[in-house]
Amino acid sequence: MTRVADQQLSRSGERNFLWARAHMGTLTALAERYAKSKPLEGVKLGVCLHITKETSVLVDALLRAGADVKLAGANPLSTQDDIAAYLSTRTDVWAWRGQTAKEYSWCIEQVLGSRPEQLIDDGADLHVAAHVGKAKGIVGGSEETTTGVVRLKALEAEGKLAYPVIAVNDARTKFMFDNRYGTGQSTLDGIMRATALLLAGVKTVVVGYGWVGKGVAMRARGMGARVTVVEVDPVRALEAHLDGFDVSAIGSAARDGELFITATGQKNVVPYGAIEKMKEGAILANAGHFDVEIDVKTLMARAKRVRGVRPNVDEVTLPSGKRVYLIGKGRIANLVAAEGHPPEVMQMSFANQMLAAIRIHSEHGKMKRKVYGVPPELEDEVARAALRSMGVSIGAPTREQKAYGKSWKL
Ligand code: NAI
Repeated sequence: MTRVADQQLSRSGERNFLWARAHMGTLTALAERYAKSKPLEGVKLGVCLHITKETSVLVDALLRAGADVKLAGANPLSTQDDIAAYLSTRTDVWAWRGQTAKEYSWCIEQVLGSRPEQLIDDGADLHVAAHVGKAKGIVGGSEETTTGVVRLKALEAEGKLAYPVIAVNDARTKFMFDNRYGTGQSTLDGIMRATALLLAGVKTVVVGYGWVGKGVAMRARGMGARVTVVEVDPVRALEAHLDGFDVSAIGSAARDGELFITATGQKNVVPYGAIEKMKEGAILANAGHFDVEIDVKTLMARAKRVRGVRPNVDEVTLPSGKRVYLIGKGRIANLVAAEGHPPEVMQMSFANQMLAAIRIHSEHGKMKRKVYGVPPELEDEVARAALRSMGVSIGAPTREQKAYGKSWKL
């Protein structure tokens, strides 16, 4: 059943699993609790997530809660092969790094072929595949990332959503931390591992100032980069300006920048015309979910020459003779060129996933075919557990303060 790159890597995968688990107290506390009560006993879960050491901790927790998990990766280039090998010792996994688009879809089909009742997805490829005639028997699911939620809300708006979905991305304990601090750190980690170049003083253009863009811009500035933000939303552009960044349109930023990082969830935000204007040696990286943010298609179609110069770095020579450098083929740079988010961040995202899976199992009968947020009480539970795991304690409002907070009297 299972198909991974190399089963021999499972020992290394297990070591990485244990390393991540030791830094994911929020999730492991849930895992301990639910290993006893088994709220997912016998539930068939189809899972499509980036297969990282942090994901292995979630899969472990789901298995221990009684679920029957079948797993595929969420991107052709993001699977950590040792983790896939380790997880394949515990359940069925279809994932390896460096898949063709066809192989990637095949893996998703295998998960759906196992007839899951619930889905956990990152980017909505599994949900969308289920909606092409294979949603029978699926009672609900959850979604990890901004782009996936956008796609599911589009299905809902067209009246085509086949089951209720919890948008884990929209939990504050997810997007405020995972998208911002997780992607901020790991995207720069990916760029640094790929290029091994200095960031200090580098004119860095961050396209998109949403939660991911804010994190990337903040961490790039922290490393001494000279950061310009490109935004199309006036409020977010204003926020970037008052946060102290230069704000510009892509046209002029293209001429001046040396390193470009996209983080929008939109397509062609760095169009080919902008790439033509860039300086010799400009570096292009994407942190958004899909490889559509930089116009890689046109870039490759027009390129005079493309050659790999380092792992995860392609040198692309334009018809003019100018060279630009593309990280990870324009795919999600923090997962292709580094290891994705640190475990301390993923403990929150995946605690939300775990709680969402349990809620879908127990409540789906009462839910509509809608995209739901994470209930506030679950968010608070995750935040409190995360604080505990980080050794931070907080107080609570007094009864007097609670009453004052609801009163119009002074
Ligand atoms: P968001 O919706 O908070 O922010 C996106 C921003 O991009 C918005 O402010 C929007 O106005 C801006 N934007 C849209 N079109 C633009 C254009 N043409 N030029 C400049 N700016 C433009 O979304 P969020 O949460 O920041 O996510 C962004 C992407 O990153 C999504 O694809 C999401 O799925 C992905 N993501 C990736 C992660 C990773 O591990 N690399 C982790 C979390 C999210």
